Formats: sequence, C-alpha cells, structure tokens
Amino acid sequence: MNKDQKVLYSGMQATGNLTLGNYLGALKNWVGLADEYECYYGVMDLHSLTVRQKPAEFRAHARELMTIYIAAGIDPEKNVLYLQSSVPCHAELAWILNCFTYMGELQRMTQFKDKSARHADNVNAGLFTYPVLMASDILLYQADVVPVGKDQLQHLEITRDIAQRFNSIYGDVFTVPEPYVGKIGARVMSLQDPSKKMSKSDENPNASIYLMDDPDTIRRKCRRAITDSEATIAYRDEQPGLKNLFDIYCACTEKTPDEAVREFSGCGYGQVKEAVSEAVIGILKPLQDRVRELQKDRSYLDQVMKTNAERAHDTANRTLRKVKKKVGLTDIR
Ligand code: TYM
Repeated sequence: MNKDQKVLYSGMQATGNLTLGNYLGALKNWVGLADEYECYYGVMDLHSLTVRQKPAEFRAHARELMTIYIAAGIDPEKNVLYLQSSVPCHAELAWILNCFTYMGELQRMTQFKDKSARHADNVNAGLFTYPVLMASDILLYQADVVPVGKDQLQHLEITRDIAQRFNSIYGDVFTVPEPYVGKIGARVMSLQDPSKKMSKSDENPNASIYLMDDPDTIRRKCRRAITDSEATIAYRDEQPGLKNLFDIYCACTEKTPDEAVREFSGCGYGQVKEAVSEAVIGILKPLQDRVRELQKDRSYLDQVMKTNAERAHDTANRTLRKVKKKVGLTDIR
C-alpha cells in the first residue's frame, strides 16, 4: 500500500440478504477505488448483533458477505477486507468513545428512532450506541473519506463530532473524516413503496431484490413493482415508482435517464419492467456465479479472512494504543 494515499473506509452489516440497493448504492462503486485510496472494507458483524441473530445462519451470512465483496471485484490483496469482530480494537475503542458521546446526541439519530419503533420488544443499549461503534470503525483507520448512502450521513456527522471533541481535549489524535464525494451510487427505493428505501429488513419480500435472487424471482418482483396510472413514460418525481425503475435500469446499464426515457418512449410499463429485470439479471447473474465459485474453496476464504484481519489489526491497534495513552490507560505491553 502506498502511504501517501488517503484512507477510505466503508462497510456493510453482515445481516443476510443484501439488496440491489446495497449493491448499486454502495458495493458496485467501491470497485477500483483502491487505485486511488488505501481502502478498508469491514463486514460489520458486531453491528448486526443489535438485532437477534440465529448463530449458524449469522456466521454463514458474514462469510457470504465477505465472498460477495470479493466476487464484486474488490481484490483482497489490494484492499483490506475483514470481519469487524476479528479485530477486537473496534469494541475497545467503542467503549472509550462511549464516554465521549452524549445521550442527547444519540437520541437524535433517526436510525435509532426507526429501529426502536420497528423492534419495540428489543430496544437494547447496542442499538442506542450503534453510531459510536460505527465512529470507532472509521476513526481507528484514520479514514479521510467514507463512502456511504444518504441514510448513513447522520452517523458520519456524529463521527466527526466525536473526533473533533476528542481532538480538542487530547490534540490531533483522529483524522476527521469527510463523506466521499466521488461517483455517487444510485439510491434504490422499495419496489412496493417508492417513498421508502429498498431495505433488507423490509417485511414484504416483493419490496426488495436480493443479490442472490434467481432470474425468475427477479422477473416476478419487477413485474409486481408499483407504478402509477398515468401511462406516460417520463422520469419525474410525480411518478416515483417509474422513476425508481429507471434509476435501477440506468445504474445497471450506465445509461442516463434521458437516454432511458427516449428508449422506452411509446412503450407500456410492462416493457420497461421487463427491460429492468433483464438488466438486473445481466449484472447479478455473473456476480452470483462468482460467489458460488468462491464458496467452493473454503480454505481460500479462511486464508483471506485471517491475513486481512491481521492487516486491519496492525493499523487499528496503532490508533488504539495512541488513544489509550492519551486518556491515561496503562500500557503494559
Ligand atoms: P448498511 O449495511 O445498512 O448498508 C450498506 C451500504 O449500502 C447503502 N444502502 C443503499 N444505497 C442505496 N439504496 C438503498 N436502498 C440502500 N440501502 C443501503 C448504505 O448507505 C450503505 O452505504 N451502519 C452501516 C454499516 C457500517 C458502516 C461503518 C458504514 C458500520 N460501520 C463504517 C461505513 C463506515 C449500515 O448499516 O450500512
């Protein structure tokens, strides 16, 4: 890795069933960034524990997500891809930073409000301090930039606040990260309610296309996507369902909305939906084949997870030791 490069950090929760939104909005756009940045990508399994998981399934999902990163084209030699829980510094820094974060700040987080409303029977302390763990992820690697979708910007903002607060007491310990302003990924909305983002936790399975969905399922979900009764081919906010379909189509084909509207002028919505599903299948099928291929070789993935965890640990531990020294914890090593 080139030490003059800026550091880029991102990750996804290891909760199964990644959606097309995760792919088009995030993962697809991470490919190639290692030419310009020193890149770290975490499989965020500690964050996933805020919702009750089935252990065996959860372990398999974390491995699958690691495989999906690699299958999507993120080279584990050029990037650091690792399981969050395999680097204990994350949990340790999170505790320290919890002591520099105010209840009032955490209470304002919209994701906490949403998730505690959805899981009213399990509003645990982890859900509340989730943003502090996320801040620890980012700050441990001294990240300059963090590519995330709009839904995560509030968490990045609190990360900056925590870093600035800590630095103002102890000197320049943390790099204050900025949102990544490179190529912005598509914001993919629910196929059943285009006012909501497509989400892996949506209870309606027709609302989301999952990365590992087979072609027939993708066709069926696209066919059932909510549109409108205007029967007009246009790309505009007044037709949010159709606009979302065009956004998906454009993200898959690299076309512009204008080109897409021209291509389908005079067509019915059925034809648009069919073209969208074929475009989605066109990019997901090769990805799925690579995932299955990689899954056959357990020892390769084991070795990637081990060596990358060591690389991540080396960087993270450097920051953690500095933090511990600054706050006055005893270092006996
Ligand atoms: P997560 O796992 O919910 O989402 C991972 C990434 O996918 C983006 N995304 C979407 N983009 C477009 N359309 C959608 N429908 C859509 N749904 C999700 C998200 O914006 C995100 O970029 N808290 C984070 C995980 C995390 C993290 C971090 C991220 C933990 N620590 C440190 C960056 C840095 C999360 O839950 O993302």
